[in-house]
Amino acid sequence: SSDPLVVFTPSGKRGHFPVGTPILTAARQLGVDLDSVCGGRGICSKCQITPSYGEFPKHGVTVRDGALSEWNAVEQRYQDKRGLKEGRRLGCQATVQGDVVIDVPPESQVHRQVVRKAATNRTITMDPATHLFYVAVEEPDMHEPTGDLERLQRALKAQWGIGEVTADLSLLAKLQPTLRKGAWKVTVALHKGHNDTSHRIIEIWPGYSEERIYGLAIDLGSTTIAAHLCDLRNGDVKASSGLMNPQIRFGEDLMSRVSYSMMNPGGDREMTAAVRDAINDLTRSIAAEGGIEPRQIVETVFVCNPVMHHLLLGLDPVELGQAPFALATSDSLSLPAREMGLDAMNPRAQVYILPCIAGHVGADCAAVALSEEPGKSEDLVLIVDVGTNAEILLGNVTRVLACSSPTGPAFEGAQISSGQRAAPGAIERIEIDPVTKEPRFRVIGSDKWSDEDGFETDIATTGITGICGSGIIEAVAEMRMAGLLDESGLIGSAEQTGTARCVPEGRTHSYLLHDASETGGPRITVTQGDIRAIQLAKSALYAGARLLMDEMGVDRVDRIVLAGAFGAHISTKHAMVLGMIPDAPLDKVTSAGNAAGTGARIALSNIGARAEIERVVREITKVETAIEPKFQDHFVAANAIPHKTDPFPDLYS
Ligand code: FES
Repeated sequence: SSDPLVVFTPSGKRGHFPVGTPILTAARQLGVDLDSVCGGRGICSKCQITPSYGEFPKHGVTVRDGALSEWNAVEQRYQDKRGLKEGRRLGCQATVQGDVVIDVPPESQVHRQVVRKAATNRTITMDPATHLFYVAVEEPDMHEPTGDLERLQRALKAQWGIGEVTADLSLLAKLQPTLRKGAWKVTVALHKGHNDTSHRIIEIWPGYSEERIYGLAIDLGSTTIAAHLCDLRNGDVKASSGLMNPQIRFGEDLMSRVSYSMMNPGGDREMTAAVRDAINDLTRSIAAEGGIEPRQIVETVFVCNPVMHHLLLGLDPVELGQAPFALATSDSLSLPAREMGLDAMNPRAQVYILPCIAGHVGADCAAVALSEEPGKSEDLVLIVDVGTNAEILLGNVTRVLACSSPTGPAFEGAQISSGQRAAPGAIERIEIDPVTKEPRFRVIGSDKWSDEDGFETDIATTGITGICGSGIIEAVAEMRMAGLLDESGLIGSAEQTGTARCVPEGRTHSYLLHDASETGGPRITVTQGDIRAIQLAKSALYAGARLLMDEMGVDRVDRIVLAGAFGAHISTKHAMVLGMIPDAPLDKVTSAGNAAGTGARIALSNIGARAEIERVVREITKVETAIEPKFQDHFVAANAIPHKTDPFPDLYS
């Protein structure tokens, strides 16, 4: 072709285009990822590109001066009013005049990469359900009896190729004044369904709006609610925040909340109101923290276990308390936030809830599968999301199994005598000298051990207040390794263990970790009751994992991933000494952080990921722990530390 050659970097896509073709047009024809909100009108500047001049042997091109058109009036007006960065041009205005190499900077790419998946090292690109579009609408006229909405729909179809656009009554009420205020030009936020081609107008602004739109990714746990506020244009996390789930006052674990609902007429409605209020509070506080208005939040994604799922939706969870554990629906849900009583965000914000896997295996487990992708792993991976309820996945490319196990809140520091949330002042790391049986520890808020210089100064304001979840796991494992605990979990007396730190308490013993009672401070001990609570929690976790291994017909797994907001802080060695997880080479045990939360962010950032997880969930085999008799056997055997019968060859090698 004698037409000029256009080469785009970094994609390397290239093609010949007639002189006078706008760069944005060339990019679209080649499938190059170049953004536009205003549809090429020279208003939004999302289409910025950088032309390069000189010789490019790699591309076989020499770019001469004049390869792009001179600035036209539109581009010049943008330059005068707002200013472009040195070397930048507007891709919708600059046209091809000769061979040229065009770089698309990251901020001009629609599909910026945002979330990196730890397991597969794959990145997620930005392609959210809600996008902004600038559109020019025909003015009404006496001879054309169509309504304003119909003309807006027509304009979206003609200028953006978008059909099936709907608006609710509250949007309709803003439509007429907004169109007139913007002189028939408006910016709309459109929410696209991921399984169909429908679009809903979420918000409308007069003229071209620079307003940013945001989404919330919420991991709704039984004990804590954690949220990320994400910019829907570039995926940036503007703020992260969390709070305690107020439903704790109705019961610490899920089953006690289900029984609260069974015993108290209207109890489910009380719990629904409590969690919705908390999410509304969290919405307002995270918006304030991110420096935005709550109405700029146009989308929210939830991941949660089945009981929280039902309580959030206002569905009585009573069926989840008894076999066969039927869910009201296991499918993903996409519905207006206001329908769920979530009215702190934009009044037309849309909510997406990931699908549940089964009556006991929820959308949180689906979110872990989305972020860790066990179904893409060549080796057999066990993924354990540690929380009040543990979500467990076992699988590889051939098959993925899932179950959940009721560990209770002990791992999160609840039901532990000196337990507390992971916050400044909490003991998070512990070592016990196997000879002297003396402890040293680290406290959140200081990077020093308790016997190092400067520790006292670091913690002068917080003091030492208690033990958090990772601390209690280390404490029990260290006590076992120092011989203060026997295999059955019994704490020895001072005579048996040779340390005065093993103090009698009733008919049992406690290990004294830290005593500041003389100066009015706390006395922090690990009691026999604490050990028993941890044993119950870890047995439930182990038994769930073991049940999946039985189902898969294996004795060993190739690698283990510890996930969960607090899973990231657990020492893998201590988890194995305790027998929380099956034996594996220690270097094959890794932490993935809050994988469910990451899954929620992925589903918020990329609409394709929603379809993907809905497909993956259909292929996961659910294993029901509650009715499986072998679960009880595994549970009993796993009560010993690390285990009564299963060997731990890697641990003892
Ligand atoms: Fe909006 Fe070029 S596409 S300024």
